[in-house]
Amino acid sequence: STNEKLEYIKSKIGTFPDFPKKGIVFRDIFTALRDPTACRYLKEVLVQEVKQRYPNAEIIVGLESRGFLFNLLIATELGIGCAPVRKKGKLPGDLISVEYVLEYGKDIFEMQANAIKPGQKVIIVDDLLATGGSLKAAIELVRKAGGDVIGGIVVMELKDLRGRDKIDCDVHTLIKY
Ligand code: ADE
Repeated sequence: STNEKLEYIKSKIGTFPDFPKKGIVFRDIFTALRDPTACRYLKEVLVQEVKQRYPNAEIIVGLESRGFLFNLLIATELGIGCAPVRKKGKLPGDLISVEYVLEYGKDIFEMQANAIKPGQKVIIVDDLLATGGSLKAAIELVRKAGGDVIGGIVVMELKDLRGRDKIDCDVHTLIKY
């Protein structure tokens, strides 16, 4: 079942106290991705949940860098395209940008201005929802580009940080801490 798959994936996620700074409990998805069964379950559950929740999605946006692991995976299974949100200075052409604050720092996100067609239905994917700073910024960027954000999906959510409170659209989480 989906719950059994999620329990299995959770059992394989790494936990690193005081990384990258004292007081942060780092949840490491890469530890889980060493396990082929966890990879398969993760793909299956992500695709199933996105198909069920956002059947009318027209493009999926992944956040640098761990969101990139999942956006192409989901896009190919849904038969839609994907686009990246990247940190400043990595993307060519006309760009839109936004500043964001995260659990342990501050940065600028960019997106190619023509990545999204006006009115296009967009979903956003990332590995983890912490303070919500990066997801909030990505939503802002997609809207600036003219996209209609119909929802988001993250593999992990750190509930205590209440990042969800910053987000004004539907977000689905697979695994909560
Ligand atoms: N990104 C922001 N906070 C994080 C955390 N606690 N673990 C993994 N990735 C993160």
